[in-house]
Amino acid sequence: MSAKVSGTEGYAEEAEALFKQYESIPAADAHRAVLRLIPAMPGHVLDIGSGTGRDAAWFASRGHSVVAVEPTDAMRLPAMALHPSPRIDWLDDSLPDLAALRARGETFDLVMLTAVWMHLDEAQRRQAMPKLAALMRPGGTMIMKIRHGPVPPGRRMFEVSAEETIALAGNEGLRPVLNVRSESSQEKNRAAGVSWINLGFVKGKERS
Ligand SMILES: C[S@@+](CC[C@H](N)C(=O)[O-])C[C@H]1O[C@@H](n2cnc3c(N)ncnc32)[C@H](O)[C@@H]1O
Repeated sequence: MSAKVSGTEGYAEEAEALFKQYESIPAADAHRAVLRLIPAMPGHVLDIGSGTGRDAAWFASRGHSVVAVEPTDAMRLPAMALHPSPRIDWLDDSLPDLAALRARGETFDLVMLTAVWMHLDEAQRRQAMPKLAALMRPGGTMIMKIRHGPVPPGRRMFEVSAEETIALAGNEGLRPVLNVRSESSQEKNRAAGVSWINLGFVKGKERS
């Protein structure tokens, strides 16, 4: 069951409320800070910790084929029903190992981790980064949105710095192309002092 996956604590219990909350924010608004890194041409997108499927559906509507990875059944199953699309492949798998995903041997133009990286502890982050890098195509992009601020009751979250993440990514040949702070798009979270670090990485050397 999904409670055994570290990082998922609290999600199944609150799934109903979280669907209302996450689905009330248009994906384009939620991702304003990283929009320029999202490929305009249809490609292959990996959304890890896909939650309610809001972003997977948005990518699919823009012509991308999407693999949406979500270990919490209470999120993934209703997400599949809410956002049926032949362009979305839903997968029950989890960080840091992503064993089922990696067994498929696919690589991606865009790897998206929105509000999930800070659910991993340091050892798990070290374990996951090489796996993420291997899932990226040469020249591909990874976007990570990392939450900072008060931890909602019942969740497992860590303070994760941009510096640590950029260093881990650098070890795997990923170049930082974006590092900006943004405030929460939800009024309640803004008032509570929640902010985000938006990071972008590209795999491979800069063309000269
Ligand atoms: C804050 S929600 C974000 C959902 C979605 N990305 C969004 O921005 O709306 C975090 C999601 O990550 C999932 N998650 C937690 N731990 C995870 C892990 N170890 N591997 C993959 N997903 C995980 C949770 O089940 C939850 O659906």
